[in-house]
Amino acid sequence: MIQLASEQVEPGAAIILGAGPCQEIPLPALTERFASVTLNDWNESSLEQVAVSPERSSKVLRLVADLTGVTTQFLEQVTESLATTDDPEQAIEKISALADAVTPQVFSTGQSYDLVVASCVLCQLHLEACNQALALFGATFPQQVQQFRASTRWVQAMYGLARRMERAFIETVHGLVASKGRIYLSETIQGCFIHLNPEGHWMTDGMYRMTHTLELSDYLDARFHVEEFGKWVWVMPPSSELGFVGRLYKVQGFILSIK
Ligand SMILES: C[S@@+](CC[C@H](N)C(=O)[O-])C[C@H]1O[C@@H](n2cnc3c(N)ncnc32)[C@H](O)[C@@H]1O
Repeated sequence: MIQLASEQVEPGAAIILGAGPCQEIPLPALTERFASVTLNDWNESSLEQVAVSPERSSKVLRLVADLTGVTTQFLEQVTESLATTDDPEQAIEKISALADAVTPQVFSTGQSYDLVVASCVLCQLHLEACNQALALFGATFPQQVQQFRASTRWVQAMYGLARRMERAFIETVHGLVASKGRIYLSETIQGCFIHLNPEGHWMTDGMYRMTHTLELSDYLDARFHVEEFGKWVWVMPPSSELGFVGRLYKVQGFILSIK
């Protein structure tokens, strides 16, 4: 679908948001078609892993940036607040209140793009804030990490923050795309862990929802026009690296234009 979207637009500039190591992105085809391809991720080492042929390397720009604009500041506030209390209950309340107060930003590079690729990044935007807050809490209160992780106050605060980040991200993709451009937006709507039982059957404890609802279209509003829609299953086979547990994701993807 990304290649199909790329054929529907002028071959000027493309941007890949949350590109990671580009394992699922047809980067050779994109660098062949577009005059420039910007790869974004907040994880610099992921972007460094992306292999680009020497003759195309001048077309590829690496842009290390947090698409939410708020993660670093939130984590600094968490660190400061942990230094002000030795009561884990109070710390949970303070950190949750900090998460409640975060207003994610709309990301811009100051230019527009013929193709904006947002492949499986929407529901990941809050993960660094979530995981690092847990790690910071755990460094101060190692015995209470599970209590923090499971506390309704924290779970609801992080759920709300994730949803606000997603809303800002939809504004981001809308703001980045050129008027005749295309957005490729995909997401893992549901996922589950799969493992072999002693009888040799694949088992799962059940699927969990990864997005606000079970329809990616629920993130879209009247400004977007659906050019293409697809649904598929993405399987990560069990490997020894993952403890012989595989993963299965239900994915939905769109090619969008803007009105
Ligand atoms: C599930 S991976 C998808 C990678 C790639 N887009 C693909 O489809 O193969 C999500 C990527 O989004 C990046 N990411 C998550 N939150 C981000 C943020 N706030 N700002 C920038 N990148 C982010 C992660 O580092 C990771 O590389």
